Amino acid sequence: MSSNGFVRVAALSELEEDTPKRVEVDGVAVSIVAAEGEIFAINDICSHANVSLSEGEVEDCMIECWLHGSRFDLRTGKPSGLPATRPVPVYPVKIEGDDVLVSVTQES
Ligand code: FES
Repeated sequence: MSSNGFVRVAALSELEEDTPKRVEVDGVAVSIVAAEGEIFAINDICSHANVSLSEGEVEDCMIECWLHGSRFDLRTGKPSGLPATRPVPVYPVKIEGDDVLVSVTQES
């Protein structure tokens, strides 16, 4: 069961390092990424245009938008360079056993 808005989105064992997985949480598209020993949840839509970030590549805890190349920090959602100037929302993640849970009702 979910609590405090946390919803199960994936099994921990199915996530591959630096390989985003697109999920929907309460109607919000979210990209789940395992990187550097942690699990991150970032809104799947680039802040520059309507592009799915989960189709981009992950490196050094950054997810890259494939269209124009802005990279967003998985920890903060902040872009490291143009053309995107606004951050993408990131969400809190909880691990319970093999379950990955995300809450989109609060931004972390
Ligand atoms: S659409 Fe993502 S950087 Fe332009």
